[in-house]
Amino acid sequence: MKVNDTILKINNIEKNYAAGEDSEKVHVLNSLSFSVKKGEIVSIVGPSGCGKSTLLNIVAGFEKTDGGGVFYNNTRVFGPNSEIAVVFQAPELFLWLTVSENIAFGLNIKKEDKQVIKDKVSDFIKLVNLEGFEKFYPNQLSIGMQQRVALARALILSPNMLIMDEPFSALDYQTRIMMQKLLLKLWDKFKMTILFVTHDVEEAIFLADKTIVLSKRPAKIIDEIIVPFERPRQISIIADNEFSKLKSRVLGYLM
Ligand SMILES: Nc1ncnc2c1ncn2[C@@H]1O[C@H](COP(=O)(O)OP(=O)(O)OP(=O)(O)O)[C@@H](O)[C@H]1O
Ligand SMILES: [Mg+2]
Repeated sequence: MKVNDTILKINNIEKNYAAGEDSEKVHVLNSLSFSVKKGEIVSIVGPSGCGKSTLLNIVAGFEKTDGGGVFYNNTRVFGPNSEIAVVFQAPELFLWLTVSENIAFGLNIKKEDKQVIKDKVSDFIKLVNLEGFEKFYPNQLSIGMQQRVALARALILSPNMLIMDEPFSALDYQTRIMMQKLLLKLWDKFKMTILFVTHDVEEAIFLADKTIVLSKRPAKIIDEIIVPFERPRQISIIADNEFSKLKSRVLGYLM
């Protein structure tokens, strides 16, 4: 596959939920279509309850569609795929395992060579700035540190695509910016494709090559905005005139 080739194609997907057997169906996704190029960072914003998490769950293969299809590398998605990693809002670490053991988890399952695991875990601990915390348990860490463990645990398996559902929304402003910078540093190293849901419009634009704005339920795309800033990006671009214009454009849809 060439760089810039399409890695993900969402083709007219429909999703309905029924709360109970006799209850009326809730129409969540309305003939939604878009595509993501290999190595692209795409952010998704939209009103609460419009279907963003549902969309991510469908892409990750956790949920089925009621129409249309999702294609990853030209192959129809019917279930979870080891090339796609997911990071949620809550870090969801294994509480009984240390930082190192959490990060090593997937490689241990794959029965990788012990020394390879040790070296890789040590590299990833450094990458997410957790040196000195290797033997700590999740409940001895801040939420930001836990989310860094979750990121390392996902990325150590070299996924081609990372799906993130509001991963930084529980963090304070300063920590969130630190995490955004860390995510971009990791992207610079691994160039994984990222599909990212956030409520934070500034974050959506700062991180992304493309921001998709969804309507209220049933969600359809109301705008796809190409973010023109070059990489690597400095956080100072949020004070840029062009940045403010994009932010107003997105906020205009959501207010
Ligand atoms: N498993 C389910 N069963 C029934 N209805 C569901 C289920 N999951 C989601 N829904 C409904 O689908 C709609 C979209 O939910 P979803 O969680 O995808 O929204 P969201 O855009 O992620 O919201 P938020 O921004 O608040 O996280 C909601 O009306 C919700 O009640
Ligand atoms: Mg959600």
